[in-house]
Amino acid sequence: MTSREIRQAFLDFFKSKGHQIVPSAPVVVKNDPTLMFTNAGMNQFKDLFLGEAPIKFPRVADTQRCLRVSGKHNDLEEVGIDTYHHTLFEMLGNWSFGDYFKKEAIAWAWELLTEVYKLDKDRLYVTIFEGDASEGLDRDMEAFDFWKQWIAEDRILLGNKKDNFWEMGETGPCGPCSEIHFDMRSAEERAQVSGQSLVNADHPQVIEIWNLVFMQFNRLKDGSLQTLPAKHVDTGMGFERLVRCIQGKTSNYDTDVFTPTIDFIAAKSGIKYGLDEKSDIAMRVVSDHIRAVSFAIADGQLPSNNKAGYVIRRILRRAVRYAYTFLGFKTPFIHELVPVLAAQFSGVFDELIQQQDFVQKVILEEEVSFLRTLSTGVQRFENYVEDHTLINGDFAFELYDTYGFPIDLTELLAREKGLSVDMDGFKQALQIQKDRSRAATAIDTGDWIVVNDDEGFEFVGYDTLTAKTEIVKYRKVVAKNKEQYQLVLSVSPFYAEGGGQVGDSGELISEETGEKIYITDTKKENGIFVHFTNKLPLDLNGTFVAEVDRTKRLDTENNHSATHLLHAALKQVLGTHVNQKGSLVNADILRFDISHFAKMSEDEIKQVEDIVNAKIRANIPLKEERNIPYQQALDSGVTALFGEKYGDFVRVITFEDQFSKELCGGTHVKATGQIGFFKIVSESAVAAGVRRIEAITGTRSAAVIREHFELVHHLKELMNNPKDFVSALGKIIDENGALKKEIEKSITEKSLALKSDLEAKIEQVGDVNFLSTLVDLPNAEAVKTLAYAVKGAVNNLFLVIGAEFDGKPSLTVVISDDLAKEKGLNASNIVRDLAKDIQGGGGGQPFFATAGGKNSAGLKTAIERAKEFLS
Ligand code: ALA
Repeated sequence: MTSREIRQAFLDFFKSKGHQIVPSAPVVVKNDPTLMFTNAGMNQFKDLFLGEAPIKFPRVADTQRCLRVSGKHNDLEEVGIDTYHHTLFEMLGNWSFGDYFKKEAIAWAWELLTEVYKLDKDRLYVTIFEGDASEGLDRDMEAFDFWKQWIAEDRILLGNKKDNFWEMGETGPCGPCSEIHFDMRSAEERAQVSGQSLVNADHPQVIEIWNLVFMQFNRLKDGSLQTLPAKHVDTGMGFERLVRCIQGKTSNYDTDVFTPTIDFIAAKSGIKYGLDEKSDIAMRVVSDHIRAVSFAIADGQLPSNNKAGYVIRRILRRAVRYAYTFLGFKTPFIHELVPVLAAQFSGVFDELIQQQDFVQKVILEEEVSFLRTLSTGVQRFENYVEDHTLINGDFAFELYDTYGFPIDLTELLAREKGLSVDMDGFKQALQIQKDRSRAATAIDTGDWIVVNDDEGFEFVGYDTLTAKTEIVKYRKVVAKNKEQYQLVLSVSPFYAEGGGQVGDSGELISEETGEKIYITDTKKENGIFVHFTNKLPLDLNGTFVAEVDRTKRLDTENNHSATHLLHAALKQVLGTHVNQKGSLVNADILRFDISHFAKMSEDEIKQVEDIVNAKIRANIPLKEERNIPYQQALDSGVTALFGEKYGDFVRVITFEDQFSKELCGGTHVKATGQIGFFKIVSESAVAAGVRRIEAITGTRSAAVIREHFELVHHLKELMNNPKDFVSALGKIIDENGALKKEIEKSITEKSLALKSDLEAKIEQVGDVNFLSTLVDLPNAEAVKTLAYAVKGAVNNLFLVIGAEFDGKPSLTVVISDDLAKEKGLNASNIVRDLAKDIQGGGGGQPFFATAGGKNSAGLKTAIERAKEFLS
């Protein structure tokens, strides 16, 4: 079977068992502070497990792209070194939300593996949870009994909490699990050593392929387990491993999931795969990492210097430096793999093929800049080893942190020079950095405290800005030493930050006591709306009126609707390759990032503004459609965003059917006329292939236009209201330039005229031609001209000139080059000494130095004192 067929067989099998097949969620997580990247198929269903969202389909299956590169599940360092861990992998999963449980999950897993995929039963082992007394958890005898029906008892092994109790993160849904392992060793090896002893022992040929989790608990912040309202099944099968078992390969990289990229890299580098350990690892690293990086970018996460963006940047850099060091790629090439990958995933995850050019361009730019850093780092290393006999930990860390050198690269470079690396020092430096960044971002979130258990949550903010409500639950959050509270309300008119639009703020007013609590922000967490406040109401059990800050909301809506008009106008003017890459909409401004490769010309900006403003003047009424089936919306030509997880039912915002139609959860104007006037205020680059447009609308654009008018009016007045302002100003600038030149010329003439005066005053002191005098010149430039003129004409010169510019004293010391050398006279030292008299300081070179000061009265003393330096 090909990998494509294997994936399809999984989906078909579970479809035949009544499962709804759903699309993969994006790999970048937006609405869950406990998670950066999707690390398991179940993430997108977290709120269903916790009972926080209604269940639409009790049985679901999919293939989910996952990234295990941060947080609780992190495989990054293994990737490429071994042959069965990956950064991005596909997790095939089937779920039951309060529907079937262990019996069916186990029976179907067995049926699929042995009857559809026809895996050898004698190579399969399963594990069950042995129990844990400290948590009051029993051994999972139920799972044992169901497995017994299919597999010999001696192949059912006990597993501990680490392997057989699955948890999504530090907190969240969890439960005992049952894993399925496959033994790929030869018959002889299997006869010699039993497979039982190798399960969960990191043996590269005895590997876990499927994990069946029986979700029953929610792990709370305090470490305790809370029983979930219902029992669920959550399974995850490693697709790449499964393919390897079915295709009978000893490495995931020998399956058709990876051979297209490995072959491409081998052809391009001229190095065969399978001949040398170092280059093999490098090829595996590159062919693995390109998948993670490409999908992260396609799902909206650009490489950057912080958080998720930094993780992606590091993964890409890890690939670049492996390719650079072990495959000889000194120029960018990794981006060339994107089309290979995009073709492979077409029909599975089309996000990549649809954005191929964009993803490629972003990766190329990253490669270019990192290769530059990498060669600087190598240079830095070469310099360092010239006077060191050991690579100390701090330097290894600098290479790692600043230049992206993985520690094994530093070790390799060191070995080549016969040196070693202080690994303990390196680990220590790394730990210090980790601790620091953890401390900087630490947010201490308490568990929810329920106030009204039987209340649901309803958002009414599309239709009203005030509502009667109650507090469902609350919790305390401490971030950066600041205490805050989060509230969940039974009914809320507050829009929660999402789709670029900021969250609402406003008031919560107690109906009983009149107490007012200020809501500072509203955010979504999984399915629920969380309201932020600095203070809890005294009576938590009362009823409240929730009131949204109207001005902020309406200004924000102007900007949000204008963003939709802008998006449509950009596609018209620049082309259909324009996709939204980021959006921020608040009451002041709208910021819109798009995929586009060139700077927008002034003319393009004008065209876009004209289109948007024409649509504003047309006063197009908002058409808002809720609960439209996703596919129906797509068929109607709606604009959907990459990296956004849409449900089965979506909301469609239309401003004129043929113009702007977007999937959107945000709030909008009733009709476009409300936006008033739209003005782009800046256009710039934010990343490779991404342009940023900032614009204003409504009252803000009115205020800015007024300011500009006033400014121009003021300028015109200053110039006596000329008819043609621009040419009048141009004329003044020209005239001013000409006058300046003339003044400079006359100052130069004046300086040079002083030259003969000075020469006449020079006195001979030994063999030195000495003069210390005051002159009347307007600026430093003029004194310099004079000084150099005298220096050019007189040998063995020691000249000190004092002058005053705009009431400030200045001193200039000039010494002939020979004299400076022979007599050890140094203009810089002398001027510094003399400057004390004028309460100032300065410096320069041994033959020319200047100083400025505050006290003009001291000039005379300084001039008189100069001669002392000759004796
Ligand atoms: N959520 C389970 C896992 O990731 C299936 O292993």
